[in-house]
Amino acid sequence: METGPEYKTLIEAEQIQRRVREIAGLIENDYGDSIPLFIALLKGAFIFMADLSRHLVIAHEIDFITLFSYGQGARRNSDVGMINHIRSNVRGRDVIIVDEIVDTGHTIAHLVKTLQEHGAASLRTCTLLDKPDAREIEVRLDYVGFRIPDVFVVGYGLDYRERFRNLACIAELTTESRRALNS
Ligand code: IMP
Ligand code: MG
Repeated sequence: METGPEYKTLIEAEQIQRRVREIAGLIENDYGDSIPLFIALLKGAFIFMADLSRHLVIAHEIDFITLFSYGQGARRNSDVGMINHIRSNVRGRDVIIVDEIVDTGHTIAHLVKTLQEHGAASLRTCTLLDKPDAREIEVRLDYVGFRIPDVFVVGYGLDYRERFRNLACIAELTTESRRALNS
């Protein structure tokens, strides 16, 4: 297993690419007749959304939204807020929420509720990573890339204090390295 000084690779870049292609295939099978609207969460899902979009051969639309459930670092907070409005008209649309990781579930649960209120015709959820052991609220996940243990991960869009988003792999950030980055 490849290791850097600060992190340990959990999922290799090639594995991620293979899985994203598979998820695109599943979505294509499910949405052949409609033009789904993807609503992806910034900042973390920007790379996943870009790769997913490039693999999709069906027509689709993309929008981005910023929510927050964490403060600066890795503090958990069930108080989810929305920073910018949903620009797209979601009424009557087949919406797919795209997140990079579902942890406590509060973020995605909040967005599901909001989009239902906005009148989406159908709503599905898609996440690259799922940490089921960390869940505090039940959410239905329709497309999941990988289930991972309850460890703090970075890379492929995921950050720790805005760092490591550029890693092509998903890596575990050790407690020691987090401590070092904090000091
Ligand atoms: P939830 O509301 O607890 O499900 O948190 C979801 C958000 O928290 C994700 O979209 C990430 O931005 C962030 N998050 C949760 N776990 C991690 C992690 O292991 N690394 C980096 N960010 C994380
Ligand atoms: Mg996020």
